Amino acid sequence: MDTIKALEQAVAVCTDCRLCETRTFSVPGEGSETSDILFIGEGPGFHEDQQGRPFVGPSGKLLDDLLGLIGLSRPDVYIANVVKCRPPNNRDPLPEEIKACRKYLDQQIRLIDPKVIVTLGRFSLIRFLPQETISKVHGQPRLWGHRYIFPMYHPAAALHQGNLRHVLEEDMRKLPVLLQLIQTESLAEENVAEEPPQPEQLTML
Ligand code: URA
Ligand code: SF4
Repeated sequence: MDTIKALEQAVAVCTDCRLCETRTFSVPGEGSETSDILFIGEGPGFHEDQQGRPFVGPSGKLLDDLLGLIGLSRPDVYIANVVKCRPPNNRDPLPEEIKACRKYLDQQIRLIDPKVIVTLGRFSLIRFLPQETISKVHGQPRLWGHRYIFPMYHPAAALHQGNLRHVLEEDMRKLPVLLQLIQTESLAEENVAEEPPQPEQLTML
């Protein structure tokens, strides 16, 4: 699985957990393989399972709108999920399913090598920051290795709770600011002229 293409092919025929028994299509993910931003949702829903593509139902429409707010569209980013096959009736993915599928997400992160990983929802968040709760940390970037984790609510949450849409919009608008800061930071590193910005600077976001 040393290319995204090979990974997608492996996911398409994967039988490493029980979700393979009930899926229509697995959903490896899609988008720019060289994007600075990787969005990670929870798992395919009904529409995604039917089409084999991530975020193509109502949550996907909202995600598209949120991307549009910051002048981006789908081909500018990569969109993946914690589990690649739909849990029946949209139940939560089970620990053993998340574990079996982990290798694919790990490899996607390695291959795409994003600067920022945007976690959408709780399952995606705890994959990286297991101690955190979304209501506390959404919209606050965290350094994770040499990348940032940027936690957001899941778009589906805003479809059920209208007031969260505003929160999602506010958080999304912080994303270009974070990328700009990271850019400045790497320029500073190249010049070795000054210390890179300290994490506290990110509290400006
Ligand atoms: N919800 C998710 O978490 N992922 C999708 O791909 C679609 C809906
Ligand atoms: Fe394989 Fe992941 Fe699908 Fe399970 S969810 S069958 S591990 S691709």
